[in-house]
Amino acid sequence: MELLELMKHRRAIRRFDARQVDEDALQKILEAGLYAPSAGGRQGVLFAVCQDREVNERLGKIKRANSNPSMATATRYVSREQPSIADDANLVNAFYDAPTVITFFAPKNFLFAAEDCACAAENMMLMADALGVGSCYIGQGWTAFADPYGQEILKKWAIRPDYYAAMQLLLGYPREGDAHPTPKPRKDGRVLRF
Ligand SMILES: Cc1cc2nc3c(=O)[nH]c(=O)nc-3n(C[C@H](O)[C@H](O)[C@H](O)COP(=O)(O)O)c2cc1C
Repeated sequence: MELLELMKHRRAIRRFDARQVDEDALQKILEAGLYAPSAGGRQGVLFAVCQDREVNERLGKIKRANSNPSMATATRYVSREQPSIADDANLVNAFYDAPTVITFFAPKNFLFAAEDCACAAENMMLMADALGVGSCYIGQGWTAFADPYGQEILKKWAIRPDYYAAMQLLLGYPREGDAHPTPKPRKDGRVLRF
């Protein structure tokens, strides 16, 4: 697919098939993240790939319990086709049962930590889409660990204390039968030319 077409095609996927992501596809998605730009070329982001469904479910539920999104209204919503936790109060897992959850750990007190994660995530989401893998960016990654079980997992994963969970990237195949989501219309007036 041509690059601009791929960018237009990628959409946040929150309804996943139970099937695990193919290992070759995962490797390519990770490689796309590793080759993303990073501030000062420091390559400080760590990608913690978890395919343990029980761990992902527990962390996703902790994250949901720690989230208080402003809920959707008839005119303001995140997605009707792929509802988020702000659209559907019945969703109890903020990771939407994705079979693969990648937590991005970044150095604390590094000015460009969030930007480094976002650059890597976009590379990975585009690579995923090109391979037929659905993805969703999840912000405020630390809230999934803000509980004794989350802290236990950080210890088990041997995450350095000077790193924090900046975000998660969910990966999985879109649920069979779902239509690929359509993007919201683009808002006018966002390009300023001088
Ligand atoms: C910084 C950032 C944080 C996000 N956090 C969440 C999140 O916590 N939960 C979620 O379901 N989607 C999250 N998203 C996905 C957005 O909701 C999604 O990108 C947006 O609705 C536009 O849809 P699209 O990606 O299909 O274009 C996040 C996206 C970004 C860029």
